[in-house]
Amino acid sequence: MARILFASSEAHPLIKTGGLADVSGSLPPVLQALGDDVRLVLPAYRAVLQRLPVLPVVAEFALPGVTAPVRILETVLPQTRLPVWLVDAPAFFDRDGNPYLGPDGRDWPDNAARFTLFARAIVELAQDRAGLGWRPDVVHCNDWQTGLVPALLAQEESRPDTVFTIHNMAYQGLFPYATFTALGLPGTLWHWQAMEFHNQFNFLKGGLAFADWITTVSPTYAQEIRSAEFAYGLEGVLNHRAERLHGILNGIDYSAWDPAHDPLIPHHYSPARLAGKKKNKAALQQQFALPVEPDVPLLGLVGRMVEQKGIDLVLAVLPELLLQGVQVAVVGTGAASYEQAFRDLADHHPDQVGAFIGYDERYAHLVEAGADIFLMPSRFEPCGLNQIYSLRYGTVPVVRRTGGLADTVVHADAATLANGSATGFVFDAADSGALLTAINQALGLYREPAAWRQVMLTGMQHDFSWEQSARQYQALYQRRRTDTLHSVAPRP
Ligand code: ADP
Ligand code: GLC
Repeated sequence: MARILFASSEAHPLIKTGGLADVSGSLPPVLQALGDDVRLVLPAYRAVLQRLPVLPVVAEFALPGVTAPVRILETVLPQTRLPVWLVDAPAFFDRDGNPYLGPDGRDWPDNAARFTLFARAIVELAQDRAGLGWRPDVVHCNDWQTGLVPALLAQEESRPDTVFTIHNMAYQGLFPYATFTALGLPGTLWHWQAMEFHNQFNFLKGGLAFADWITTVSPTYAQEIRSAEFAYGLEGVLNHRAERLHGILNGIDYSAWDPAHDPLIPHHYSPARLAGKKKNKAALQQQFALPVEPDVPLLGLVGRMVEQKGIDLVLAVLPELLLQGVQVAVVGTGAASYEQAFRDLADHHPDQVGAFIGYDERYAHLVEAGADIFLMPSRFEPCGLNQIYSLRYGTVPVVRRTGGLADTVVHADAATLANGSATGFVFDAADSGALLTAINQALGLYREPAAWRQVMLTGMQHDFSWEQSARQYQALYQRRRTDTLHSVAPRP
């Protein structure tokens, strides 16, 4: 058993912008069930405080850069027994908007200060200086918002081991030198082997350079990020630390994402009782004001509308697909140009395109349950959860062969259809021609009900639950940083 302090900037169901929240809300409870003593630490955002009763203050301390004392509030993650510590610093976190963006959709101008404060509070908890009488063996950090934690802990005489999980290399937390100096951080961190990166301050690099172990969320992405195409300049540090880098595939939380008992969908179904899926299709068509046509193929898409997700590729192939008579249901939010393009398509083709531009969990679940085919043509995808949800919901995914998409979907070709391993359609080139070919392959198979049903069932029966991945994290927690390896964390 290990004591784990799990640090994240979001966790479902308290606060979510994407897959990081799904992971932070589901991996820690599984680790706990497997015997670890886990505490989750999150910022006390306004949205989090609003959904909870008044919480007890369990610690209070001063930190640089903030005049009022920082308080630690204690609660449990809803529907679990997982203890949660909230870092309450109202000047930084008690605001409208999401964890990273203001209501105007732009990054909060003080994000560096906000996540420096969060990191400093995590260090106080990790070093048991907050008076809570609990000292972790391992601090498990996630993404750039916690990248400073391994760097700051490395300055301490004695400290817990650190694990840093990369959920996305594209978000690094880059700030100018003036911000670095204003934060009053140790000067040694401004060094090319520390957090300096082409004359900017790079939060993610703190995690990569100083964590005892680095993980990312699929084996394929762990390989990809050793190249410039996927690491945006940080491939050098990752190659330098390659022996400490592991790819551990995300699991999924079947208590939230299983059509047999999903409370957010109107009709439950399972491999043995597939009829409910057809009813969800009708419900989705109704909800999105599409004609209720059981046999018209319905393509679904849920996700952040950003370049990563290949939204432009989908927009490029839709005119051709609409000519073929398909229906499309889209739920997402992101770049204004993509949002507008989907609104325009829905306006021009109301009988074929339904688009909800915004964030809505119920719609996300309904698309997974009601669509026939799920589109996820990402340019890169560290893991991707939606395609794994699609597999469980019998919604055959069409994905690009990258990152976790490559690790979770088995392309349907003659061989995999014959041996019963096919679960979806996988294409290689990041262009609209390749995507269109893959969608047409899917539409072709859709017209062969027996073969289609087999592909659906294979995906639905595949087990992507957390337990196996959680055990891989546990194995890592058991390794000490002093375990012999060729490379060691650079200490400036
Ligand atoms: P990423 O983390 O890169 O956004 P993932 O596939 O790992 O991609 O996870 C995305 C998660 O966010 C899924 O749980 C998905 O259902 C959810 N999600 C994304 N966009 C929306 C939206 N507009 N409304 C509701 N849920 C969304
Ligand atoms: C990131 C990635 C996504 C991954 C998620 C959870 O947001 O973009 O691929 O599934 O984190 O690890």
